[in-house]
Amino acid sequence: MNILRPPMNRRGRIVIVAFTLLIAACLVLAGCGNGEPGSAGVGDSYFADLGNGGYDVAHYDISVRYHPGSPEINATTIIEAVAKFDLSSFNLDLIGLTVDSVTVNGEPAKISRNENEMTVTPQGTIASGDTFTVTVDYHGEPTPGVLASTPLPNGWIRLDSGATYVLAEPDGARTWFPNNDHPTDKATYSFHVTVPDGMEVAANGRLVSSDTTDNDGNRTWHWEMDEPMASYLAMVAIGDYQIQRTTSPNGVTIRNFFLPDQYDMAVSDFSVTGEMLDFFSSVFGPYPFDEYGVVTVPAVLYVALETQTMSVFGSEAVDGLGSSEPVIAHELAHQWFGNSVTLGDWRDIWLNEGFATYAELLWFDHIDSDFDIDETIAGITQWGERKLRPIDDPGVDNLFGDSVYIRGGITLHALRRTIGDEAFFNTLRAWASEYKHASATTDDFIELAERVSGQQLDEFFADWLGADELPDLPGSFGTS
Ligand code: ARG
Ligand code: ZN
Repeated sequence: MNILRPPMNRRGRIVIVAFTLLIAACLVLAGCGNGEPGSAGVGDSYFADLGNGGYDVAHYDISVRYHPGSPEINATTIIEAVAKFDLSSFNLDLIGLTVDSVTVNGEPAKISRNENEMTVTPQGTIASGDTFTVTVDYHGEPTPGVLASTPLPNGWIRLDSGATYVLAEPDGARTWFPNNDHPTDKATYSFHVTVPDGMEVAANGRLVSSDTTDNDGNRTWHWEMDEPMASYLAMVAIGDYQIQRTTSPNGVTIRNFFLPDQYDMAVSDFSVTGEMLDFFSSVFGPYPFDEYGVVTVPAVLYVALETQTMSVFGSEAVDGLGSSEPVIAHELAHQWFGNSVTLGDWRDIWLNEGFATYAELLWFDHIDSDFDIDETIAGITQWGERKLRPIDDPGVDNLFGDSVYIRGGITLHALRRTIGDEAFFNTLRAWASEYKHASATTDDFIELAERVSGQQLDEFFADWLGADELPDLPGSFGTS
């Protein structure tokens, strides 16, 4: 006999058994388990708070209402995501703006915010592997940041005229929509942008419709980006545009949004695009998207951005003399290298900029019989010898520095000299096809180049990317 605990009656035993079964069922279904919070970053080498852990976004549906008379946007972003583990709460990257409501699977969710992050706590745990839908209603005036390496506003940018555009590399997407702001989480996108009738809206992907109007004289432009896209490449430009539609010689659709007062010059300057697109397709493999084009915004940028399928150029890029041909080649090449094959970490930025820079040289080598890549690189090397710094870890302030572009390009040429043309171009094509619409790292590239060439290249890349002094170029370089 147990004097401390009287023998349990039958009813008590049933209650305990039932309770135990309920807990077990909860653990299995995770419906009333606690789950874990998703982290506030994905561990990028340079941007601790970019991206978020615990989920993977499949699709963003972004609706923005904008009137040029006010800097404010009224917006809703619907995120479809998959939980990577049992999630009790998760973060979205978002800067500024006023959040009006957040729901998860239609149920109101609690939020808390700090400077860069919004933490969303749904009513129940989201089970690992479940698809969930987050709807965020918000409004306000986006506040673009300024990137250390370029003195340019970064994010959703509004000009005094009321025209707007987005330049968001690397961390400006969070100034206009809540998202998982890191290139390792690519997703497809829908854009519905409502503006006064008479304005035009450019965005990524394909224009589905622009004929939905309301009684207030507004028109909604619906764009769809059907292939995965990194958040920094999401772009909307609103303004007064004249649209040019054409195709490359091999039939890829090209649609350009040009400023009406520069239209003829722009048509002339960008007329090389089709031939370039077909040339790069023959060298790198098929163009990875359905359409291409550019938007020239009514501002002097001195920079262009390879926003997926719709690169952004400043008005200074247009002069009717073809002066921007290298930049046109550069942004187009990024569609393969950067946009389709995307960085796994911002430290690997040379995989974007070195490749796009080398593509410029390949283009001029293709069209100009007097152009000599060896000679050009030998010239750059002499000129740049002292100032081309290592690019294996350029630092956040030098993400877009000359060394990343130039040494990155020269490194590819040195690789070509080392493994030969056939292995080199096979490596570029394999890079574009094996990592198509995915993310990859420098180590992935080295591994692939070694596989294709059959050569051991660790030391080659350690020197070319990391040595203080620029190594000597292999092979002989003509100076004639
Ligand atoms: N990826 C661009 C290009 O080389 C560079 C953009 C640099 N500026 C910036 N704010 N992210 O075409
Ligand atoms: Zn670039």
